[in-house]
Amino acid sequence: MIDALELLKTRRSVKAVELAGPAPSAAEIETLLTVASRVPDHGKLVPWRFIVFVGAARLNAGDAIAAAFRVKYPQAAAEQVEAERKRLARAPLVIAVVSRAGAHVKIPEWEQVLSAGAAAMSLVFAAHALGYAANWITEWYAYDRGVLDALGLEANERIAGFVHIGRAPAPADDRPRPPLAQIATRFDANRAG
Ligand SMILES: Cc1cc2nc3c(=O)[nH]c(=O)nc-3n(C[C@H](O)[C@H](O)[C@H](O)COP(=O)(O)O)c2cc1C
Repeated sequence: MIDALELLKTRRSVKAVELAGPAPSAAEIETLLTVASRVPDHGKLVPWRFIVFVGAARLNAGDAIAAAFRVKYPQAAAEQVEAERKRLARAPLVIAVVSRAGAHVKIPEWEQVLSAGAAAMSLVFAAHALGYAANWITEWYAYDRGVLDALGLEANERIAGFVHIGRAPAPADDRPRPPLAQIATRFDANRAG
């Protein structure tokens, strides 16, 4: 198994379309969800939940995506609609991370949203730790009310991401990472002046 720090330092996304099967097993999916749900959560509100798409469920959800696409673009060609139907079938497993953030007397909604982001990121790391690769994407249908209704999202719920998971065919090229000097400021109490 890859060293944890090495994994954290080298992880990178792999395009959804490049993620091959077989899908993680039921036990592995349980591990993924266990890790994803072990995140900081101010107030213990559990402001997130997960929807697992595997096998035929990916295309069933795709029917809703295709239907919403047809509503948006009535003139769309049949091939385009078919491509939309296969959106969630690119990878063998897709897990939607759903934010359930809302108004609360004590906990700011922003912090609840951040917790959902943490859940999505932990899910991505867990996938890599199990030997898979992942891609956290949203795309247009994460913001389409018709699709959200079909997936059972309540009015206060939002898609934090559709995390696509599968096997990476070959080591993926990395992208440039921001130099630490640009993004980290050090306040050193002992430094003069
Ligand atoms: C909330 C969120 C939504 C994203 N949605 C998309 C998307 O719809 N399409 C896309 O190409 N990348 C999307 N990305 C970016 C990818 O997840 C990925 O981070 C990036 O392509 C490569 O960076 P990485 O190798 O560090 O993971 C999204 C990222 C976040 C955090």
